[in-house]
Amino acid sequence: MNNISILEFIKKSPKAELHLHIEGTLEPEQMFALAKRNNVQIPFKNINEAKKAYNFSNLESFLKIYYEGAKVLLKEKDFFELTWAYALKCKEDNIVHTEIFFDPQTHTNRGISFDIVINGIYKALKKAENEFGLSFKIIMCFLRHLSEEECFKILDQALVHKDKIFGVGLDSSEMGNPPKKFEKLFKKAVENNFITVAHAGEEGPPEYIWEALKLLNVKRIDHGVQCLKDEKLVEKLSTNQTPLTVCPLSNIKLKVFDKLYDHNLKKMLDKKLMVTINSDDPAYFGGYLNQNLIETQAALNLSFKDIKTLLINSFKSSFLSEERKKEYINKI
Ligand code: HPA
Ligand code: ZN
Repeated sequence: MNNISILEFIKKSPKAELHLHIEGTLEPEQMFALAKRNNVQIPFKNINEAKKAYNFSNLESFLKIYYEGAKVLLKEKDFFELTWAYALKCKEDNIVHTEIFFDPQTHTNRGISFDIVINGIYKALKKAENEFGLSFKIIMCFLRHLSEEECFKILDQALVHKDKIFGVGLDSSEMGNPPKKFEKLFKKAVENNFITVAHAGEEGPPEYIWEALKLLNVKRIDHGVQCLKDEKLVEKLSTNQTPLTVCPLSNIKLKVFDKLYDHNLKKMLDKKLMVTINSDDPAYFGGYLNQNLIETQAALNLSFKDIKTLLINSFKSSFLSEERKKEYINKI
């Protein structure tokens, strides 16, 4: 296969996205429109200035701007429009199944009700399911820089919306906020039949990945790129085929690796890890799923077989039924 056909293959194949923060799909244009409509101040004069500010030195510097941006979201209609815009990107990129994160505490701590947030997101995804067959799961993330006690309160609110929320995850500032801080919280989530995932090993050490597996009972590790520093961990992840939702463009923007050329994704694939490619916060990191696949393929010289493995892995690692997984995988 030559390069052009790999490109076509990437664009045309059905795929699943498993690591996407819906608040991270807020494009500057939409941010400005919502700021105006809702009469909210944002720290940028214009769209170009916002784009220039998207020059991050690490996760923390990104989160500061990401939480600022989210302040323009006030009403159910805003969350609906945000999610609908992402659903249209899914259609464009041939994403047929998506498992999205949302961060309720980012909104409830500004006085927005949980219902407004979840209803706006859910209604948009339902519309996409009805209109073009996009299937989805919603995963609620706890903000790990907050206390476990505060997170228990948001878990209680999520219980009311158990019909819409499939699982819980853990995001925000990783360093200094290890998974073990949330052991009791995740135990309660599991008791209430939420599946669990967690960001671990994005910037943080392999120890955080071990903790997420052992203490939080996670079914997937979000990012997990630091696992290669620990041979025993690699062996465990590989034996169990624990999915790792890697986000290459995010890792470059947040300086986890200097250049895409230096990314360890190919090494992870060669170690038979269950790796997938995802876009994380595409409005801030320079591209949606296909762009992540296309740029990573070029930088790491991934073969047709590697890309096929990554796309198959996206379905294998999803929370779809075994039957639906097979159906999609047969179409690749
Ligand atoms: N890491 C941690 N928290 C986040 C991220 C991320 O990549 N994106 C949005 N919240
Ligand atoms: Zn993330």
